Amino acid sequence: MWFFAINENELDDGGKKPLLVEGEKLLLIRQEGGFYAISNKCPHMDCPLSKGSLEGFVIKCPCHDWLFDIRSGEFLNAREIKVPAYGTKVTEGKVYVNMER
Ligand code: FES
Repeated sequence: MWFFAINENELDDGGKKPLLVEGEKLLLIRQEGGFYAISNKCPHMDCPLSKGSLEGFVIKCPCHDWLFDIRSGEFLNAREIKVPAYGTKVTEGKVYVNMER
């Protein structure tokens, strides 16, 4: 099911924004024109990925430097470990997140 997240113009390219959607803490990222939504809780020890640094499509957790691909949620050192990733779409300037993964 799709839920409204933000207006497209609220986030610049390379920007990230923590959000609460349907009770879930999400992190919405705009990169190279696309929008990506992942859980804002690191699967290691729940640190907020919104406080991490973003380089290309990789976000680094601020607590212990684990690296995740924002497109798939995969932990780069062990791809079977993932942060939940959600589908996004833009319709008429509004960004929606699909909460059914
Ligand atoms: S809590 Fe994210 S790497 Fe440890």
